[in-house]
Amino acid sequence: MENQKYRSQNWFGKKGKDGFIYRAWMKNQGTPPDMFDGRPVIGICNTWSELTPCNGHFKELAEAVKKGVLEAGGFPVEFPVMSLGETLMKPTAMLYRNLVSMDVEESIRANPVDGVVLLCGCDKTTPSLVMGACSVNIPTLVISGGPMLKGHWKGRDIGTSDIWRFDADNKMGKITPEEFVASEACMARTQGHCAVMGTASTMAVMVESLGLSLPDNASIPAADARRKVLSQLSGRRIVEMVKEDITLSKILTREAFENAIMVNAAIGGSTNFVIHLLAIAGRIGIELNIDDFDKFSQGIPLLANVQPSGENYMEDLYYSGGLPALIKEMSSLIHNDAITVNGKSIGENSATSEVYNRKVISTLQDPFKPDSGIVVVKGNLAPNGAVIKPSAASPELLKHSGKAVVFENIEDYHARIDDPELEIDASSIMVLKNVGPKGYPGMAEVGNMALPKKLLLAGVSDMVRISDGRMSGTGFGTVVLHVSPEAAVGGVLALVQNGDIITLDAYKRILQLEVSEEELDIRRKAWTLKEIIHPRGYVHLYQTHVEQAHLGADMDFLKGASGSKVTRDSH
Ligand code: FES
Repeated sequence: MENQKYRSQNWFGKKGKDGFIYRAWMKNQGTPPDMFDGRPVIGICNTWSELTPCNGHFKELAEAVKKGVLEAGGFPVEFPVMSLGETLMKPTAMLYRNLVSMDVEESIRANPVDGVVLLCGCDKTTPSLVMGACSVNIPTLVISGGPMLKGHWKGRDIGTSDIWRFDADNKMGKITPEEFVASEACMARTQGHCAVMGTASTMAVMVESLGLSLPDNASIPAADARRKVLSQLSGRRIVEMVKEDITLSKILTREAFENAIMVNAAIGGSTNFVIHLLAIAGRIGIELNIDDFDKFSQGIPLLANVQPSGENYMEDLYYSGGLPALIKEMSSLIHNDAITVNGKSIGENSATSEVYNRKVISTLQDPFKPDSGIVVVKGNLAPNGAVIKPSAASPELLKHSGKAVVFENIEDYHARIDDPELEIDASSIMVLKNVGPKGYPGMAEVGNMALPKKLLLAGVSDMVRISDGRMSGTGFGTVVLHVSPEAAVGGVLALVQNGDIITLDAYKRILQLEVSEEELDIRRKAWTLKEIIHPRGYVHLYQTHVEQAHLGADMDFLKGASGSKVTRDSH
């Protein structure tokens, strides 16, 4: 493929006025003429932003990628896209995942790039970039920003999952408000994304297990010099990928998706994985449905002892052998011949890996926990499915019936949760409505509602909670999420009333509202669709086109791909 004409030559290879314009303005950045000689042009899609602190070190990573691209004879060009900072964006970063995917797709297609490196880190920056790139389908390689080093506070290790514990301790007076604030700086003490197996780490594992990154991308800490080495090597490799014409669709096969689901189970990955992988599959044209997550998770135990399902941190996973070592443990289960960006199979990439610490990466025969993965529950309360993560739940609550305590929306929850008069006990099931894709809008990460203070003080640490929203990947508890259809579009969730009995049986995959069909019909007739669509702007577009959670919450018109061809040329 050495002598092929790359798509960038449709710009830089042109003669006359057009070619002059395409090249001349690039030369104002100090670009030597030989950069336009037909060599692969590599876009570096950067989500750096000071408002996305997890990606705050991406300028350095981009420089390392550029070095690698130049070493391999390519022409690196860095470009920004909208960045999604999980901690700051309101109403929720998820609202903008699809918008960023549009930004990425159009930025790649509209510009003279032959291959692209995606710099991803904080939660939504990964799926949004991969989704957008899938809809163009040129050679693409993903680099994750890497996890923070674990925090230290009062002699103990801490990470994002401790926020929920600190919050509960603060409410109960176990720590002072001053201590609560002091712990902040001790937790996020280095560059990088959350140090536990939250959504960002889950996404980094996802891209490595899909074959979209070089080995070890998932767990090298952001502060470790080897993260820069990986970036430089990725820069070299993407040039080769362009020459070998290894497009995304050649890597993202059905087998790659099945591998990602199996590995996600073994690491105790975030429930957000479901919604993002479904959306990515929809862009690249692979048939994948919500039941596949349950099917391919079954029988996969939890191998990684990493928070929130375990005790350790992402850096411990790296020191223990990293993701390749964990994948090697799964070689009897996964599709070992699935190809990856370095041209080798996932089996070849892990063949020589070793586990250095069995307390962090266990064996299939003697796993850290026997139950893992994503369980999909269905019933009249979620005809299209809802998800639960057993490894983060209390085993005794995975089969439970209780009376519903209903919150109509997140504001209602905040207003009443600590009301001393609230009728609730440890056996109750907390139900939160109208936090789904269309209703919130953007499917808020509020599904792991904090328990009422009076129950916390009584020593209750977990209860069954059900909603049409999502949960932070760093969260934990017996939390049923992504109920589909959501309440705002008239799902049965909208009809639940205080005192109704709900049965959850994760073992039998059941989520049932124990109310007769006749009674539900009466309630359905009394239920009215509230006008929730914003009058203008992106939110209007999102709400009128977003699909339900079991389909990945992409917008209906964004599914599939338009390829890399530019259909009109005004020059
Ligand atoms: Fe960015 Fe957790 S807040 S990864």
